[in-house]
Amino acid sequence: MVKKDTKVKENTELMDKIISLCKRRGFVYSSSEIYGGFAAVYDYGPYGVELLNNIKNSWWKYMVQYREDVVGLDSAIFMHPKVWEASGHVSGFSDPLTECKKCHYRFRVDTVLEEFGIGADEKMSLEEIEKLFKKSLAKIKCAKCGSNEFTEIKKFNLLVSSNLGNFSGDSDKDPVYLRGETAQGIYVNYKNVLDSTRVKIPFGIAQIGKAFRNEITARQFIFRTREFEQMEMQYFTSPKEDMKEYEKLKEYRWQYYLDLGIKKENLKWHKHENLVFYAKEAYDIEYKFPFGFKELEGLHARGGYDLSQHAKFSGKDMNYLDPYTNEKYIPHIVESSAGVGRTFLALISEAYTEEKIGDEERVVLKFKPEIAPIKIAVFPLLKNKPELVEKAHGIFKNLSKLYRCEFDDNGNIGKRYRRQDEIGTPYCATIDFDTLSNNEVTIRDRDTMKQERIKIENLVEYFKLKFSGYTTGQ
Ligand code: GAP
Repeated sequence: MVKKDTKVKENTELMDKIISLCKRRGFVYSSSEIYGGFAAVYDYGPYGVELLNNIKNSWWKYMVQYREDVVGLDSAIFMHPKVWEASGHVSGFSDPLTECKKCHYRFRVDTVLEEFGIGADEKMSLEEIEKLFKKSLAKIKCAKCGSNEFTEIKKFNLLVSSNLGNFSGDSDKDPVYLRGETAQGIYVNYKNVLDSTRVKIPFGIAQIGKAFRNEITARQFIFRTREFEQMEMQYFTSPKEDMKEYEKLKEYRWQYYLDLGIKKENLKWHKHENLVFYAKEAYDIEYKFPFGFKELEGLHARGGYDLSQHAKFSGKDMNYLDPYTNEKYIPHIVESSAGVGRTFLALISEAYTEEKIGDEERVVLKFKPEIAPIKIAVFPLLKNKPELVEKAHGIFKNLSKLYRCEFDDNGNIGKRYRRQDEIGTPYCATIDFDTLSNNEVTIRDRDTMKQERIKIENLVEYFKLKFSGYTTGQ
């Protein structure tokens, strides 16, 4: 659909290569693939789940473990339906939808405008998008049949509903929603956390969990999915301090991505011009994905809106009594909201490298070692030599207590190295005949491809230094 200049073509090619590698090497599969897949839902394979876990662990360390002022939470996906009325999601959580009058293909208006290079982005208000769409009708065509006749734009609510606890047989009656964001689980537990722990304002509650949205257009691989995971930290402050805390949080989150190994030039801030009515300020951290700079994380100063709404709808007092000043107030909230899947895609895009080695090309994922799915691959040189295999099993057993390792005795060593390069394993340890006499193994470095001999008894100390990064996923 998009006019393909060379740059767009290159970027599409890169995205296609990443998608293909993710499938071929066991990172990401389409959901229910044997049944033809299921739109905008994905499964994470053996290496994908390791990378996901490393991302989530690094986030948890950064946002909870390293901080004195943040505690964790794991709230349920199902919540009382009133939560979503109070939050504004039932009335206001929607995207602009239109339908082709000829073939009835439905699509999200703002993203289609963007594809035709008309300059809408997801931060425009619905009214602005509608105006722009009407003005641009001559340039836009239905992706399926080429017609340019469309129905009036409708607001399409993104909440996914279920029939949980509904035995009436009427599926539209009293829907129970699957949560559209993890944040609401934090807000409704703010009082519980306050009453059952030692926290005092300012403090944060962090949570990682699934969220669900009925996204209209399934696009860009795992960038926009209907089931996804969020990593959110909601920070409760006094109304006087919220903007100061917001600035601190922005800085802290920016540094997180640099520590994950993302280059500064591939990140940028995007300030929201059209704020939702309760937001005082909103910024996104954008990453330069192969399809351009797009939102990786949202940072929002939400004022006292959330707790005031839950106080109003639940009838419960959400005020905080400051033990030092005796002031009573509804805490203000600043939030950091990141997507696990988007961080995953950013890390793979950042790591993806093609190199020429002599006459050969190699594909290598240059993850920061701490975040790599497999940290060390252990190879006996030959699989039909029991003494080598046994020694290699012993090394695997020891190292795997500390790191996610992989044992591989199949094929020639060169091929085994290439395979580990493609999944981003930073070190390979090869056990050969010399090992049997001098107790040394060959350690091969993914990026430099240099090899060195290390004594088996020094391996733990050796790798401790190699994996000493701040955001270690292990
Ligand atoms: N509590 C605030 C909130 O949910 P958001 O900007 O709608 O804000 C935050 O979402 C983050 O969640 C996004 O920056 C993105 O990383 C992730 N996200 C949102 N919708 C997503 C989707 N459909 N698929 C994958 N990730 C998504």
